[in-house]
Amino acid sequence: MNDFGAETPFNEASEALGFATGQPVGDIFALNALHVDIFTLFPLMFAGPFGESIVARALANGLLSVALHNIRDYTSDRHHVCDDTPYGGGGGMVMKPQPIVRAVETVLTRKAGWALPAADVYTNLPAWDAEQPVALPAGVPVILLSPQGRQLTQPLVAELAAMPRLALICGRYEGVDERVRTQLITDEISIGDYVISGGELAAMVIVDAVTRQLPGALGDALGAHQDSHSPGMGGLLEGPQYTRPFTFRGEAVPDILISGHHANVERWRREQALLHTLRRRPDLLERMPLSAADKLYLAQQGWRERPR
Ligand code: ADE
Repeated sequence: MNDFGAETPFNEASEALGFATGQPVGDIFALNALHVDIFTLFPLMFAGPFGESIVARALANGLLSVALHNIRDYTSDRHHVCDDTPYGGGGGMVMKPQPIVRAVETVLTRKAGWALPAADVYTNLPAWDAEQPVALPAGVPVILLSPQGRQLTQPLVAELAAMPRLALICGRYEGVDERVRTQLITDEISIGDYVISGGELAAMVIVDAVTRQLPGALGDALGAHQDSHSPGMGGLLEGPQYTRPFTFRGEAVPDILISGHHANVERWRREQALLHTLRRRPDLLERMPLSAADKLYLAQQGWRERPR
């Protein structure tokens, strides 16, 4: 037992991934800056991305905990059906509302870290009344991943990283029954204007981007502050980076970087970030704070400021 009162920390899928926070529960939950409940029909998709690198380390260090919930576990019919044909005809299948709503209401009304014990899947589900909406905890966004959501941006990532707990629902097929939207979800997020086969990859993108914002998740002290699009970069794209060798195939590292003149290096980096952004994403320059020196430099590079 721990601060969150979690007795059944993770389900089979989470344990299969070997999440270090899975057991023992102990005090490790007290360290978690963020707990993410992910509702999916394909929990094993998460093994690779969550089993390596920054996210794996954050899980191991107790900065982050994740529980994967298989929506299908919350069906009790013989064939464990989670989708059905659309009313009005048309191609494809639609995700039924009951398994999703049952899974989310069951999990979110319990302490962070709870998951349905493997032995109870299908057969011994906690009581739930399909006709009786359950009040969910305020302050835990219930987010549907879909191409119709608002677009994920770095400010939105920062917003999510400040939450103690998130619920991510991965849509599949032609989408979810509209009653999931009207009755359950509080937010809908897209990772871009293109369609992927389900919300799982989008959920992985969100968890990865959010994890980078958790204090201590990145090795160095600057952390994600200097990432492209981040506040440390003033919303600019990052400029070029170099490491050894000094010359590669006849192309040398810019002399300024070995000048040892810190202020000049910083100014050069700023100008390179401005130049990268001007050439690749000039739209970003329209809505960011620019100093007089920035504007002068950009003007020399051919930028014309548009009236705001
Ligand atoms: N599911 C399908 N396409 C998606 C997208 N672009 N973003 C989030 N979820 C999705």
